[in-house]
Amino acid sequence: MEEKILVLDFGGQYNQLIARRVREQQVYAEIKPFDGITVSQIRQAGYKGIIFTGGPNSVSDPASPHFDPAILDLGIPILGICYGDQLIAYLAGGEVSHADSSSEYGKTVLYSSDCKLFRNVPHTSFCWMSHTDHISRLPAGFHAIAHTDKCSCAAMCDEDRELYGLQFHPEVSHTAYGQQILRNFLFDICHCQGSWRMEDFVQRSISRYSQELAGKKVLCALSGGVDSAVAAVLLHRAIGTNLTCVFVDHGLLRKQEGDWVEDIFRRQLHMDLIRVNAQDRFLQKLAGVCEPEQKRKIIGEEFIRVFEEEARKLGNVDVLVQGTIYPDVIESGSGNASTIKSHHNVGGLPERMEFSQIVEPLRDLFKDEVRKVGLELGIPRDLVFRQPFPGPGLAVRIIGPVTRQKLDVLREADWIFRQELEKDPVKAVASQYFAVLTDTRSVGVMGDMRTYGHTIALRCVTTDDFMTVDWTRIPFDLLEQVSRRITGEVPGINRVVYDITSKPPATVEWE
Ligand code: XMP
Repeated sequence: MEEKILVLDFGGQYNQLIARRVREQQVYAEIKPFDGITVSQIRQAGYKGIIFTGGPNSVSDPASPHFDPAILDLGIPILGICYGDQLIAYLAGGEVSHADSSSEYGKTVLYSSDCKLFRNVPHTSFCWMSHTDHISRLPAGFHAIAHTDKCSCAAMCDEDRELYGLQFHPEVSHTAYGQQILRNFLFDICHCQGSWRMEDFVQRSISRYSQELAGKKVLCALSGGVDSAVAAVLLHRAIGTNLTCVFVDHGLLRKQEGDWVEDIFRRQLHMDLIRVNAQDRFLQKLAGVCEPEQKRKIIGEEFIRVFEEEARKLGNVDVLVQGTIYPDVIESGSGNASTIKSHHNVGGLPERMEFSQIVEPLRDLFKDEVRKVGLELGIPRDLVFRQPFPGPGLAVRIIGPVTRQKLDVLREADWIFRQELEKDPVKAVASQYFAVLTDTRSVGVMGDMRTYGHTIALRCVTTDDFMTVDWTRIPFDLLEQVSRRITGEVPGINRVVYDITSKPPATVEWE
């Protein structure tokens, strides 16, 4: 049987990150909500190990998520993280207490002792803590294997039953040896082989969707970005001609983008593609709208309406495929996280929809994982490694109301910036770069004449996952060349500025 780890989700904010860290070790991880699986199902599924995630609750609160204690006696190794650690202690008969004085948040010095879980981990290292409750009495059979200055049980184990608990978070990069600890759990304790590959994800998804969607007519929303392209090709492999891709040209695309997308899908990937030229329709709906969330909602809603119309024309379409990826899901405020922006393919969906089912095959993946899937599927590299582009397009890069003329101006400025940047070696570290048309006007002088023109802001960021980003240190000479060209070639622009803000506190897009 193929090896897999069960990540039992108790509602923490790093659940997907845990699964991702396991996948990074070439072991497949399956996430299940704590109330979505029983002990006997776990036994039958043949998991090599189980990870209990963190969670915001207190185990002593009767309303908190619990699990059948029989799970501890399955003979399957378990690693509990934070809330999961306390839950193991509680289920095994120990005691968990609440004391503000023992709470720890952030980077903390960890003192660990020799044991299987801490193989190749120095006795003193940094870990990342985030807890108020703590284990005040260990259950029978357990002993502490690490402590901090405030927490006498920062890690515990019952080696005979292979039950382990960590009060800190090994999955976050601030825990210096977190990956080593997870590796020890997976390979030394669960005896995994580490033979899982992204290609297995592809195969698994293809066989899953070819069964689940057999005989159904499926519509895929193509934005021209990496995510929806990967979702579309994956589904195309699963259901072939039952998939129709609809590419809505909302007029908010970058220069020459619409034709480029059409060409790749039709000529290179040989897929059915309907291009809907809906530029006027979107511009009308957006007329006079300034508020960013309102723009997103309008565009999200209009997208769906266009898809619904196309679906009706095709007849009997009941499933919509979307390229939602994991950062979209958390940043749109699902679960415990708060809403930052309604990324149009998640939080911006209108309540009323005519599709009975939405399929999001990439919902659990991070961007770099999606790119690996794309390569696995044979999608051309220039599409796979394309910088991300938001669904609401240039509308969220024009501050204030969107007009046709502003779109033309922004498209030209953006084109110049991208052209110049792509000639420079800095491109290798630039994850996303674009121009923003601000609503600031300022005085300038051109050919001895006063001008009162608009300001273009340039944004270029470096990041792995787009959850946090740093601004890219692009060379001054490059900035100068871009500034000279934009002010010289784009009518109405007399000032160019460079955005030097990281995320947080800013976000990548200006709206
Ligand atoms: P923010 O601005 O939220 O952007 O820091 C993070 C990443 O997400 C992209 N982005 C979007 N993608 N629909 C999308 O599909 C959206 O509404 C959206 N808003 C932002 C953004 O370009 C960056 O890569």
